[in-house]
Amino acid sequence: MYAAVVTSFDAPPHYSEHPEPVAQASEEVVVEVLAAGLHPRVRSQAAGSHYSSAGELPLVPGIDGVVRDPKGRIRYTILDDTVLGTMAERTVIDLRRSVVLPEGIDPVQVAAAVNPVMSSWVALRRRVHFGRRKRVLVLGATGNAGRMAIQVAKRFGAAHVIAAGRDTARLAELRALGADETCTFDELSRAADVDVVIDYVWGEPTARAMEDMLTARTDRSAPLTWIEIGSVAGPTAPIPSAALRSTRLKIVGSGIGSVPGRDFVKELPKLATAVARGAFDVRARAVPLAEVEQVWAATAGLTDRVVLVP
Ligand SMILES: NC(=O)c1ccc[n+]([C@@H]2O[C@H](COP(=O)([O-])OP(=O)(O)OC[C@H]3O[C@@H](n4cnc5c(N)ncnc54)[C@H](OP(=O)(O)O)[C@@H]3O)[C@@H](O)[C@H]2O)c1
Repeated sequence: MYAAVVTSFDAPPHYSEHPEPVAQASEEVVVEVLAAGLHPRVRSQAAGSHYSSAGELPLVPGIDGVVRDPKGRIRYTILDDTVLGTMAERTVIDLRRSVVLPEGIDPVQVAAAVNPVMSSWVALRRRVHFGRRKRVLVLGATGNAGRMAIQVAKRFGAAHVIAAGRDTARLAELRALGADETCTFDELSRAADVDVVIDYVWGEPTARAMEDMLTARTDRSAPLTWIEIGSVAGPTAPIPSAALRSTRLKIVGSGIGSVPGRDFVKELPKLATAVARGAFDVRARAVPLAEVEQVWAATAGLTDRVVLVP
């Protein structure tokens, strides 16, 4: 079969022949891949830089996707850490980490959307007690995951969602997705009184945001949960110690590890069905898998989520 194959962590994957997959365990089956998203996590997997990377090569990237199982059913699947991902004509899945999708769904839309939707869906379900009528700030709201976080927070009953980003043209589109307010990183004192922050940015901008927001908070004893989900601006952030003493700030993370794999899987049926039914505004760009090498570099930073189609 053909697959996207990484042979060096310094170079993009290339389209080449790869041995046929073989199922090893009783819950495993070989499936035909219909669509696999090129998420930031997949880029870091292929660069060997994700915290879960074991440094093994060669590697077929792809952490999730839409597949056809041997009985002809269409499924969304998440893969465990593996060197045989979804960017291939066929792969092996564990049926317990997949969900059957409704008839007639668009595989590209689903493959584009589930990963970015899941980031905030799982965080709000599993890392915070998210009662109704909460005020939420999405930090880094202009990317795929940030755009979905606005919609997920509203779906879960948020009273007010503030979307913050650095690109004012992209920010201007976010009210149409449900944002009540938008602001740049320099205007975050306006978001001082939120209950929950969904943070995709980290690095210097987050450290500055914390300082600006916490000093402007009306009631410093009101709980604020800061959920760290992505780190597009840097892996470390110099958080001032006073931030944790002077306000009721709690910093938590959400990702594989802080949320057990089984909890991600538990959220899948409702989440994937909502995506498949068109509950979220999805921007997807289908690209043939054969063009993986060219598309890898050319589309970094694109608003649309690239989805590779074997
Ligand atoms: N933990 C989880 O469960 C989970 C799941 C999914 C994603 N994530 C993580 O969440 C992050 C975002 O994912 P995504 O799918 O939204 O990616 P994306 O669609 O590529 O969007 C990334 C966004 O980051 C912004 N950005 C890039 N560099 C920046 C910087 N230096 N300062 C401020 N903003 C910057 C860009 O904003 P502009 O519009 O200004 O260019 C862009 O819109 C990634 O780190 C990803 O790995 C985590």
